[in-house]
Amino acid sequence: MTSFATTIGGFPLLHPVICGSGEPVMTEAGIRAALKAGAAGVIAKSVNENPAGGRQLDRADYVRLDADGVPTAGQGVSLFNRSGLSQRGTDDWFAAIAAIDREARPEGRFVAASIVYASAEGAVCIASAAHQAGLRIFELNVGAPHASEAAAGAIVQETDPDRLTELVRRVRAVTEGMQLWVKLTGLSSNLPALAIAARRGGADAAGMMGRFMALVPDLETFAPVLGTSAAYGGGWALPIVCRHLALTRRAAGRDLPLIGTNGVRSGDDVIRMALCGASAVEVVSVIMHEGFAGLTRVVQEVDSFLGERRLTFRDLVGRTADSMTGYAEQPETPGRWRDFVPSETLANTESAR
Ligand SMILES: Cc1cc2nc3c(=O)[nH]c(=O)nc-3n(C[C@H](O)[C@H](O)[C@H](O)COP(=O)(O)O)c2cc1C
Repeated sequence: MTSFATTIGGFPLLHPVICGSGEPVMTEAGIRAALKAGAAGVIAKSVNENPAGGRQLDRADYVRLDADGVPTAGQGVSLFNRSGLSQRGTDDWFAAIAAIDREARPEGRFVAASIVYASAEGAVCIASAAHQAGLRIFELNVGAPHASEAAAGAIVQETDPDRLTELVRRVRAVTEGMQLWVKLTGLSSNLPALAIAARRGGADAAGMMGRFMALVPDLETFAPVLGTSAAYGGGWALPIVCRHLALTRRAAGRDLPLIGTNGVRSGDDVIRMALCGASAVEVVSVIMHEGFAGLTRVVQEVDSFLGERRLTFRDLVGRTADSMTGYAEQPETPGRWRDFVPSETLANTESAR
């Protein structure tokens, strides 16, 4: 199992597969099930101080879409949903998850507190509560995709590097001794700058990237599927996340641990994110599609990948990112474009030769 081990900001993990925050871990039973299924740790369902975030859960809806963007009863290739936050009181929720964290600790696993950002005052207050509850990890999500559609102020995205540094600094001040992981949006192309900003404020790790927002027209009714634009994720997102991981590793340096999320559906996907710089990944949709057994499958697939090749996970982190080159550095391939156009394009033209 040691070939499997990884660390985030000095915090040791048994392996890189974390159960991310989401509805499957909205209850103590769900968190226990994720741990039992083999997760290295669990990011408990997020809370925040604004009751509108919790109320939004009562309007949440979820649909799976096939490759053509049509709702399907099967697994589909994308999950499209609007979500809400936990309706449990913060103190009650943190006491409950801290108790499970204490049980998980001797096994080398963890349960982390998470918030979806709404205000700096709220974030500081909730982070203090997590610290007081004895939790070891606090994840601050400043990039939940629903910010634009949720009730005003219920969910806020932070995409300004200077403001992010200041926010993280304030949260850092009340989370001494805890791991502070900052989860960034998928709706900004400025992730390297945001990751550096989070680090400057004292974050131990940067997580990326949140899901995208999308609008799905229904071709029968012409109405928006689910009635709104909503968060959209699928395995197709993984290469996009990989690029942002690699760019962030290049800009922020190898010392900033990165956590990949958005698109992991298999053990191979975990390896792909690791190659691009992730020291661990957070998965949720797999569990919504397959149940907690999906988590066990992904963990086993990572184990098999490493075992079959006699590799250690740590040695893979960043390998693809570090060998990524620019367009100008590629070998010349004159005329290669001709293989990718219809024959009519090439008819009787000088340029066709
Ligand atoms: C239904 C649902 C609810 C989610 N709720 C939260 C949340 O409360 N807090 C959070 O930080 N991320 C939340 N997420 C984001 C996930 O933690 C994860 O980053 C994202 O789904 C991408 O990973 P995946 O492709 O494995 O699903 C949620 C995702 C889904 C699908």
